[in-house]
Amino acid sequence: MQHASLYRKWRPRKMDQVVGQEPVVRTLRRAIETGRVAHAYLFSGPRGTGKTSTAKVLAMGLNCAEGPTAEPDGTCENCRAIVNNSSLDVVEMDAASNRGIDEIRDLRDRVNLAPVAGRTKVYIIDEVHMLTAEAFNALLKMLEEPPEHVVFVLATTEKHKVLPTIISRCQSFDFRRPSIETLATKLGEISKAEGIAVEPEALTVIAREGRGSFRDAEGLLDQLSSFVEGEITTVVVRELLGSVGPEALLETTHALHERRAADALRIVDRLSNEGRDLGQFVGELLSHLRNLMLLPHAPEVALAGVGAEERAPLEEQANAVPTAEVVRLVEALGDALGRIRRGGDPKLELELTFLKLARDYTEPSVENLMARLERLENAAANGGLTPPAQAPRSQAPVTSPEPATTVERPDTGESREAPAEPRPVETEPAGATESAAEEAGGRRSDVDLAGQWVSIMGELKRRKQALTAAVYGEARVEGFDGSVLKLAFPGDQSFYVGMARDRKHADVLAEVLEERVGSRPRLEVSTGDDLPETVSTAGEAPPGPEALQEPAPRAVVPEPPAREEEPPGAWDGEGPGGTMAGTNGSGPGSPGGGGDGTIRSESEVFEIMRGFGPFGQNGGG
Ligand SMILES: Nc1ncnc2c1ncn2[C@@H]1O[C@H](COP(=O)(O)OP(=O)(O)O)[C@@H](O)[C@H]1O
Ligand SMILES: [Mg+2]
Ligand SMILES: [Zn+2]
Repeated sequence: MQHASLYRKWRPRKMDQVVGQEPVVRTLRRAIETGRVAHAYLFSGPRGTGKTSTAKVLAMGLNCAEGPTAEPDGTCENCRAIVNNSSLDVVEMDAASNRGIDEIRDLRDRVNLAPVAGRTKVYIIDEVHMLTAEAFNALLKMLEEPPEHVVFVLATTEKHKVLPTIISRCQSFDFRRPSIETLATKLGEISKAEGIAVEPEALTVIAREGRGSFRDAEGLLDQLSSFVEGEITTVVVRELLGSVGPEALLETTHALHERRAADALRIVDRLSNEGRDLGQFVGELLSHLRNLMLLPHAPEVALAGVGAEERAPLEEQANAVPTAEVVRLVEALGDALGRIRRGGDPKLELELTFLKLARDYTEPSVENLMARLERLENAAANGGLTPPAQAPRSQAPVTSPEPATTVERPDTGESREAPAEPRPVETEPAGATESAAEEAGGRRSDVDLAGQWVSIMGELKRRKQALTAAVYGEARVEGFDGSVLKLAFPGDQSFYVGMARDRKHADVLAEVLEERVGSRPRLEVSTGDDLPETVSTAGEAPPGPEALQEPAPRAVVPEPPAREEEPPGAWDGEGPGGTMAGTNGSGPGSPGGGGDGTIRSESEVFEIMRGFGPFGQNGGG
């Protein structure tokens, strides 16, 4: 087997071997048959789509001993010389390396000479957009008065860089990128003919990696066949390509969608430990998300590059994850990829992005604020202060209807000066959501920090304190009496507690708080397990030991929680900034909704996050 140049060996020798470019082939065929071949063609399209090959088949058709014919025999002396690149009548010039006027002048001097062996001289000028302006003009001159026996084929991967004056002198053909399926079929033919054993599914993977280029896909097949002993399998191909495979992509997407930051971060850590290229992982994740996004709208497009075995799980995920959510992930990962390409540390960028995606600080939109205002106004007007027993949950926390009891100002900056009037303290109704709980915090204090929590997190993000925001975004404001701010973390987020108590983060938060309340409040951080209601219930595992062993710096004074009546069920709620879908299903008194042993792994993640603590300030926004 001669693998060294599989793609050269498989260069099309006939028009019908040029795959996937039917319009081009049809037109050229007819031109040869009717003797109306143009003097100049412009072949544009991505690399490895058949531009040079087609130019050569055209040259063969024009010069074949049996021709001119659209079906050159490929065996006569002229045809063979063209195939071997030894024909004196077919001149290939690479404008990328011969950009200048000298080459074009040289060409012009020879262009008038008669063909040596055949009927027509064919000049193939590759990457024609690379010519200098001067050379372009000289070429233009030739194109204006081409000698009878000459055909120019100008090829380019960047048609937009070719002067319009040149384009207007040429008959233009756009070569299309073949589909993955077309590529895979071609690869299948080649491997069969060459006796290369390949799993059909692996052909799809190779084809996809070829990114629309026959040449690249064939080159890869070539490498693999000389590399791999025995059958080329999907696993082997992925291994060699450093590709993570569909399972990790599905898993990551699932975790992000369900706001399971710990799980998503664990995947990053695993891949990183395996020595994978995380930038490549982001790229693969993006194309997976793209498929998810397209699937409901254009299934053919979405499934074009997907192997048969991957379809079912992809479809299942597309059904489970709404398009808006996919778009959210795409946008965030696109940003991350941009930062990685500009030199950002891939692991750090990914971790920050995953954390942010799992927290989801949706800023209140104007519509939401208006709706909220309206509700509050109505409530005030009616004097009716009965909250709904169970406020409905929604994707974005800020859209949660406010309980009618909370006749509070909406989240404006106005609360910087503490209002004079103390607000009545009310008892929470059973089953109130965390919205009620947030407001409850506000009601016990002069400044509604609970209500402002989302905007405070937003402020941290604007100050590039994304990690700090990620930490406190998980917290629920228990109460604020003007000097002590009580924060609580749901049981399943308890691995944040240590970080929340860390002076590094506490100081950053305190700075923002100071601007809002006029002084630096003391922080009191507790976990779900500190709550009387949640102690010894639901068999919840204790928080990770690492979290509890975190030294509590002096800035932070943990005090026994002295709170008023605790709303039952509040622990099932979402963090103020979060949309922890899936944590809200359990009944009152069942902390965190998790209790499935995730804590152990979360403390792992806690360790990971501590590892990049010092950098946490740079990756934000
Ligand atoms: N349309 C096609 N049909 C079949 N094989 C192709 C096609 N396009 C490219 N190839 C394969 O890729 C190799 C390089 O193609 P080439 O014509 O040089 O691409 P381009 O000039 O567009 O970069 C060919 O030798 C052939 O093996
Ligand atoms: Mg070429
Ligand atoms: Zn011939």
